[in-house]
Amino acid sequence: MPQFPNAIHSKLPLVGTTIFTVMSRLAAEHNAINLSQGFPDFNCDKALIELVNKYMKAGSNQYSPMAGAIALREIIAEKTENLYGTQYNPDSEITITSGATQAIYTAITAMIEEDDEVLIFEPAYDCYQPAIELNYGKTIYVQLKVPHYTIDWKEVKKLINHRTKMIIINTPHNPTGAVMTADDMRELEKITAGTGIIIISDEVYEHIIFDNRQHQSVARFPKLAERSFIISSFGKTFHATGWKVGYCIAPQNLMAEFRKVHQFLVFAVNTPMQLAIAEYLKEKENYLSLGNFYQKKRDYFNQLISQSKFTFDNSAGTYFQLLRYGSISNEKDSDYAIRLVKELGVASVPVSVFYHKAIDEKVLRFCFAKKEETLEKAAAILCKI
Ligand SMILES: Cc1ncc(COP(=O)(O)O)c(C=O)c1O
Repeated sequence: MPQFPNAIHSKLPLVGTTIFTVMSRLAAEHNAINLSQGFPDFNCDKALIELVNKYMKAGSNQYSPMAGAIALREIIAEKTENLYGTQYNPDSEITITSGATQAIYTAITAMIEEDDEVLIFEPAYDCYQPAIELNYGKTIYVQLKVPHYTIDWKEVKKLINHRTKMIIINTPHNPTGAVMTADDMRELEKITAGTGIIIISDEVYEHIIFDNRQHQSVARFPKLAERSFIISSFGKTFHATGWKVGYCIAPQNLMAEFRKVHQFLVFAVNTPMQLAIAEYLKEKENYLSLGNFYQKKRDYFNQLISQSKFTFDNSAGTYFQLLRYGSISNEKDSDYAIRLVKELGVASVPVSVFYHKAIDEKVLRFCFAKKEETLEKAAAILCKI
């Protein structure tokens, strides 16, 4: 008999059940208020649902073009130029994806080869590192500086070498709610000048930014835009995380490689939702009002918990608020989060799960994309602690 290798050799041996699944399960088991996973507990706009219905009934139910419905690509090009001043060609530089997750995976797969180094900033959203690993790349971690989770560009500069293939940024940032400034972008521009480094700019919360801050898309910086994949998600923008529709924008030479992978990963994204979103985007207020909408929720939640023993800085963007509990307990953040859900009935996410070394800063992440009554119930519990 020939020797056969083991049938299953995990390519991701360290990946288990994520904390999001664990917390949501615990929240359900204990009938707790779930501020852990990042999704709204209210419905998306009826008008958007009616548009999907309209296109389904009209027979738009077959494959869309591989790169996405042209009407949607065109209006994304228009929105990007209006907001960030850069022109992208909808034919060759914009692709509709099955959410941002697929776009990120596709861009990494299209670019990363064995031993390529990819810099990511921690705490980091959880889908970057596995995608790098599955492509045999090497993740290089850079820690954001507490308490405001800023980037130490000198440290980044030290980590860059001839193997550095990619830097992944995320602004506004999940889980911290921090946003990158124009100065950050200029530093990134300086550091990458004269290198072949590719950037993935995860901008899924581009419209959820507060206190008159301006979203610093890499599209505003031509020298960055020419080396960048910009990724966004309609799940976040239109309160429809379950639809999994997002997009990627990149210069033609990068997008050509992206589409080679996209074509065989999903081929195309569901048609009626793309057409509905394209029509819905014509009304600019549908996305321009989002910052105000979520700022009110942030302010409401933060005002409700201002009398609690938790301490915090207002989130600058995203629909997440970090709360520090160091003056309440010495427990590890994961233990404390589990106790909060089991004993008190509020689910959150411990920030240590966003670090590969599980760094515990005694901070929990709460999602405030919730109805007022949900936020009130959660805050009442948190204030009793
Ligand atoms: C920073 C960040 N990037 C990407 C995603 C994934 O977006 P999508 O649901 O469109 O795949 C999320 C979702 O939570 C996120 O927070």
